Amino acid sequence: MIEHRKGISIAVLLIVAPPLVTLIATAHQMIGTGGDGLIRARAVTASAPPATQAPATAPAASGAPSATPGTAPGTAPAPTAAAAPPKPPAPVPGRSALDFSASRPAWETFLRDADPAAGKQLAANGKPAAGVQACVACHGQAGITPSGGIFPNLAGLSSEYLAKQLADFRSGARVQPLMNTVARALSEQEIGQVAAYYGTLAGPPMHVGEFGGDAARKLDVQGDGARALPACANCHGLRGMGEGPLIPRLAGQSREYFTDQMNAFRSGSRQNDDVGVMRAFSQRLTDAEIQALAAYYAGPAPQQR
Ligand code: HEC
Ligand code: HEC
Repeated sequence: MIEHRKGISIAVLLIVAPPLVTLIATAHQMIGTGGDGLIRARAVTASAPPATQAPATAPAASGAPSATPGTAPGTAPAPTAAAAPPKPPAPVPGRSALDFSASRPAWETFLRDADPAAGKQLAANGKPAAGVQACVACHGQAGITPSGGIFPNLAGLSSEYLAKQLADFRSGARVQPLMNTVARALSEQEIGQVAAYYGTLAGPPMHVGEFGGDAARKLDVQGDGARALPACANCHGLRGMGEGPLIPRLAGQSREYFTDQMNAFRSGSRQNDDVGVMRAFSQRLTDAEIQALAAYYAGPAPQQR
């Protein structure tokens, strides 16, 4: 009986102790070590006014009050030195949810109210006055390139991904001479239009997994923990179908285009994957694996379909 009660009290102690220690440690961290202190709702709302008042008080402190009482223009250091002290001790910086939201990319505005019909015209005719060939000449009639090769299919990609790529080609964040020339000759509105148009087109028929073997399949669906390689499908969706607005479809892109992009990420010549995930992952793959993955996503050569 005694043994039993002792066991229970040990169990209770084990349950209660860890949260208690965490609580004390957190409190110590916030108050005891001269940290920011407890985050209070008042501090969060109080942080707004000083920002708007700052411009008003700063010129007054450095200009009018200290300089006017008889000081000659020569005594410049005085006002600047005086400008520092008037700052009242800053209120505890509160954090608002907005501090954590990413800035909105510029291409988002290109897509606003973009007219896909105008984009279709542009894709079919190009912009001869500016020397831009029709997109269809290289990217195929309905955004599916008949020959594959270095030309990617645009059909099956989201308008957001397409707009981002065109904006990146335009700014030089993604380098490829043909597309840099094309994208720089287009206006923001025209980029929105072609991206909106291609975003409506269905991708090529699916043949993912028919080639490339088990090694490629494993990398797609499972990744390789030993190399800290997540499954491609984690981001690119099941069978390379693409996911969300910004992760491109891989299914049906030619072996050559796929391999070119993987090598470009690997060498760092393509670095518009904003946080560098593709640069990191491509470096952990062997040449043979990239070949196998290329075949896996591409399916049969175009003429065999
Ligand atoms: C002269 C041939 C040519 C023309 C014309 C052309 N492109 Fe391209 N495009 C390419 C090539 C080659 C690539 C592959 C670039 C690379 O390897 O990085 C490409 C890539 C792209 C990509 C990136 C696709 C992806 O999966 O990341 C987009 C988007 C694109 N083109 C849109 C267009 C649009 C829209 C037009 C018409 C206004 C157009 N292209 C006209 C050759 C062309
Ligand atoms: C953590 C998410 C993530 C994982 C995992 C991932 N990718 Fe990507 N991948 C991306 C993003 C995001 C892009 C688009 C980058 C950009 O904005 O240009 C991309 C782009 C690509 C492209 C270029 C496509 C095109 O149309 O130009 C290829 C090829 C590619 N990934 C292959 C792979 C392969 C193969 C794997 C598995 C070994 C993989 N990715 C794993 C996020 C990921």
